[in-house]
Amino acid sequence: MAKSKTIFSCRNCGTQSGKWLGRCPSCGEWNSFDEEVIKAATGSMQRKAGFQSVSKPRLINEIEAGTTSRFSTKSQELDRVLGGGLVKGSITLVGGEPGIGKSTLMLQIALTMPDCKVLYVSGEESAEQIKMRADRISSNHASCYILTETNTDTILSNAEELQPRLMVVDSIQTLMTNRVESSPGTITQIRECAAELQQFAKSSGVPVILIGHITKDGSIAGPKVLEHMVDTVLHFEGERNYGYRILRGIKNRFGPAAELGIFQMQGNGLREVSNPSEILLTRHDEPVSGVSIAATIEGLRPIMVEIQALVSSSAYGTPQRSATGIDGRRLSMLLAVIEKKAGFRLGPKDVFLNVAGGMRIDDTATDLAIAVAILSSSEDLPVDEKICFAAEIGLSGEIRQVNRIEHRVAEAARLGYKTIIVSRYNARIDELKTNGIKVLAFSKIEEVFQYLFS
Ligand code: TYD
Ligand code: MG
Repeated sequence: MAKSKTIFSCRNCGTQSGKWLGRCPSCGEWNSFDEEVIKAATGSMQRKAGFQSVSKPRLINEIEAGTTSRFSTKSQELDRVLGGGLVKGSITLVGGEPGIGKSTLMLQIALTMPDCKVLYVSGEESAEQIKMRADRISSNHASCYILTETNTDTILSNAEELQPRLMVVDSIQTLMTNRVESSPGTITQIRECAAELQQFAKSSGVPVILIGHITKDGSIAGPKVLEHMVDTVLHFEGERNYGYRILRGIKNRFGPAAELGIFQMQGNGLREVSNPSEILLTRHDEPVSGVSIAATIEGLRPIMVEIQALVSSSAYGTPQRSATGIDGRRLSMLLAVIEKKAGFRLGPKDVFLNVAGGMRIDDTATDLAIAVAILSSSEDLPVDEKICFAAEIGLSGEIRQVNRIEHRVAEAARLGYKTIIVSRYNARIDELKTNGIKVLAFSKIEEVFQYLFS
């Protein structure tokens, strides 16, 4: 009979070691090693689920391309992030910080999918607690079943019996399987439980959504193992002080990644925000300095966001630089370019930058709007609120073109902007002007500043 063995693995990154370590040599996390007992004879190969197909190599031309049969979750935003709906037999991981609203989102989906059985498995809350939350969200929940259980064998036998259209598991960290002896939440447990659920999904065709908690550094606990296994990884994120929550696609085997869904947390659950530009822009009664509008693209959607900057004389020797919603290094780069190429002395000043509404933006097309907001605050000169910007800034101060400019211009025109400033290097600028908006093209950052502020 095979012996079981004890290993220690890092809760944060999954690194394994024969002995306990105070600090993980791989990710540097302190006190993250858990003891795990692994029974040698068990493994992912010997699971009970009905997977006895004898695999043989087949010619790719003889394989019929499976029509990925999708069904709608009745949530436009979730469907969008998934690439058009849930795929049968797929496994999706929804990660997020505690309290951000993962359980609320998934329960809401489970409640609003009409006329089909949904199994909502919770290892975190009691059935009564879930019922209270359900009453808060929706009054109609005829076909949603709740199971409070953490043992995968019990969960899977119930699921096989019930034959739901969708199964949600809240959360993967609370599950445990009999095949591994370590405590719930350890890497081995998470991996084994996810593998069992995945086999269930693949063999039964029932899509499974796993909820996973994120550790403070932003990765899903047990992240590496899970992100590889599952078909789709979504992050649910947002600034806690704002009501907005963003569901971001990180990986998607069946559709575009990097797609974005926007929700607003309200007293009665999450409301879908289908027109994000309008909520991300603040209305100002009179022109204020330090504010500019960027025409960005998130996923496939153009979104207008407001960039706010505050530049002030530093009270201390070391000036402060702080960026919320954009990358801090990008801010440093832009400050250096403004200083060197446009001749403004920002070195001794504090610079604070913020994307309104608590959004996080990765799109480099916000560069020009950021630079303009910084200068506007520094010089205390407001920018005309009917002007918006869509261009990247290069290290030598050149205004670079950005992708999908026609979508950005169209969104700006739709929202009533009179002028959009873009790069002169965009092809076919003339064709963009048809949207009833003035398209101004520049090639140097100094020219933009001159146009706006003199
Ligand atoms: P929850 O879904 O429990 O978070 P997670 O599962 O990610 O840990 O969300 C909890 C927060 O959402 C909590 O602070 C209360 C708030 N909330 C609302 O504002 N409105 C609602 O209708 C519900 C159900 C929760
Ligand atoms: Mg929860």
